[in-house]
Amino acid sequence: MIYLDNSATTYPKPQSVRDACALALRTSANPGRSGHELSIRASEEIFRARQAAARFFNAPSESSVIFTLNCTTAINTVIKGLLKNGDHVVVSELEHNAVMRPLERMKAQGVSYTAAKVFAGDNDRTVDSFRQAINMRTKMIICTHASNVWGIRLPVERLAALAHEYGLTIAVDAAQSAGVLPIDLMDSGIDYLCAAGHKGLYGPMATGILVVAGDKIPEPLTEGGTGSYSVSFEQPSELPDRLESGTPDLSGIAGLRAGIEFVSRKGTDKISAHEFMLIKRMYRGLEQDKNIILYLPEPEPVHYVPIVSFNIKNTDSETAAKLLNRYGIAVRAGLHCSPAAHRAFDTAEKGAIRISPSAFTSVRDIDNAISAVRKAAREVSKA
Ligand code: ALA
Repeated sequence: MIYLDNSATTYPKPQSVRDACALALRTSANPGRSGHELSIRASEEIFRARQAAARFFNAPSESSVIFTLNCTTAINTVIKGLLKNGDHVVVSELEHNAVMRPLERMKAQGVSYTAAKVFAGDNDRTVDSFRQAINMRTKMIICTHASNVWGIRLPVERLAALAHEYGLTIAVDAAQSAGVLPIDLMDSGIDYLCAAGHKGLYGPMATGILVVAGDKIPEPLTEGGTGSYSVSFEQPSELPDRLESGTPDLSGIAGLRAGIEFVSRKGTDKISAHEFMLIKRMYRGLEQDKNIILYLPEPEPVHYVPIVSFNIKNTDSETAAKLLNRYGIAVRAGLHCSPAAHRAFDTAEKGAIRISPSAFTSVRDIDNAISAVRKAAREVSKA
């Protein structure tokens, strides 16, 4: 099978990640809870992971790094932990349901939002469209760093400057960008960074990161045992404990640490260059077939991350993906949990087929995928 669904989760995981998970399971117990060797080893592992993440994102401190269940939990923490009755936020029109669903729910609590139009390839117009969406009640910009459907990259550094110009904060959904695009929290102005651990950071699933770089700490989604200040019924006020309650996923966090080290060793720029070389090849292969619909220009690193989504004429994306699966090509079709992004390109009805490579994808994988898509297109056109 040729796996081209790395935007859903990267596969395979590096050997070092698998080893780190297994080692943690073999040699550790509950971190921060007890004074015995197995617990201390676990605490050390978590601290190493926090250090690795803090270094990777140039976070203000290790304690600003919060381990979460996934990127969705990180985003929910920001939205539900910071927004209050009467607040307004500006999002992009390309947001994932991880942003849209909590915001919809928060409408009942008096929170409103405006979705700003994104102009692929024209950052000036995109920034302008965010500016126009800001009103007197706006408290925050929440936006994806890169669309999980179209790969369109948002100019988050410029949006951070815009947010600060108006006295707002900015939260960035880096689910598709962490590990592929450089992110420097001391430099970018991003106040809250939400990242998936299991995509471009090559960690296991059920790992995510929230980095609190802004001054305000979100209210926790859950309270409970932290192993600290146990005498008190009050949740500790300091990070990371304020936002990390209950027993953590130690083996997952150990794997995430190994994943971050894997990406650091290889270099985000090299991974990105490799994936762009592949996605451009894929794009050019698809472009030559008149039965294939492409929605955007060939992706390039200034305005995109390495993803391409397309359709085959006269069929919906799910049917086409099933055909591709028969030819041994694994992709994701449908709406990718991002109906807003599909509405923006008029594909909400048939969805789209998404190709997303990883550091492990080869030129041969891409060439085989191009042949399979063309074969599927021929088959559909005959039907
Ligand atoms: N959000 C993930 C995707 O884009 C799961 O496929």
